[in-house]
Amino acid sequence: MKLTPKPPSLPPPFILREPSVPPRPAVPDTSVVLRATDVWKSYDDGAITVLNGVNFEAIEGQTVALCGPSGCGKSTLLHLLGGLDEPDRGRISVNSIELNRHRSRLDLLRYQVGFVFQMHNLIPDLTLEENCLIPTVAAGISRSSALARLKHLTGRTGLSHRLNHRIQKLSGGERQRTALCRALMNHPRILLADEPTGSLDENTSATVFQLLLDIAATEGVTLVMATHDRKLAERCDRLVEMHDGRIREPHPL
Ligand SMILES: Nc1ncnc2c1ncn2[C@@H]1O[C@H](COP(=O)(O)OP(=O)(O)OP(=O)(O)O)[C@@H](O)[C@H]1O
Ligand SMILES: [Mg+2]
Repeated sequence: MKLTPKPPSLPPPFILREPSVPPRPAVPDTSVVLRATDVWKSYDDGAITVLNGVNFEAIEGQTVALCGPSGCGKSTLLHLLGGLDEPDRGRISVNSIELNRHRSRLDLLRYQVGFVFQMHNLIPDLTLEENCLIPTVAAGISRSSALARLKHLTGRTGLSHRLNHRIQKLSGGERQRTALCRALMNHPRILLADEPTGSLDENTSATVFQLLLDIAATEGVTLVMATHDRKLAERCDRLVEMHDGRIREPHPL
């Protein structure tokens, strides 16, 4: 009788162990107020691809600096997060409400999200007061409440004496502070600021930036801010980097 040889005993299975990295604490879903999931965006019928599957989250009350080289897509991402433009693919949600082409996008702009634009986008021929009242009219806020809010904000930003000045007569720092007041008029829970100090000298920039952080802290606002200024960025709770249309984050959430 022919005996079949016994197969050699196999070594115990090799167990792959994760390196000893502490597990990332779970972020409760309710505290994520802004979320971009696999967001893609291109311009000129796809000829210019800007965002290549961006994933991003901001937690309630956080201050987040968005850094990266010129042209990497910071403004594009902020516009999508604020409902000012639409992604080609992917999802954006604000306070767990997914933005769509319908009503929620408009409501979101009026009440939940304030936007400070890179070029401040104030109307030069109108006064500071007129510029700041525009979003309150769109939101249906009474004139007396709007004026009280404006008084409070211009007091905090040192602009009380400039209420009736036309924008074209204001300095660069005053215009940026006006843009900040306008963005906060409707008590937004989220403030998106696109290089809010980009056009200012070092001292004015530091002053406006500190003001932004102070107001965000006292009003409990979540702030996401694009900036080229590393020193300022490091004063935020989180710093995220954009490169090649994606986000890299040295120290996630
Ligand atoms: N409406 C548009 N049509 C075509 N291309 C656009 C449009 N808006 C932006 N881009 C291009 O998309 C890329 C990203 O622009 P974006 O303004 O988002 O960059 P950024 O990171 O904010 O730059 P910066 O730091 O200079 O403000 C750039 O190459 C820009 O030329
Ligand atoms: Mg930009």
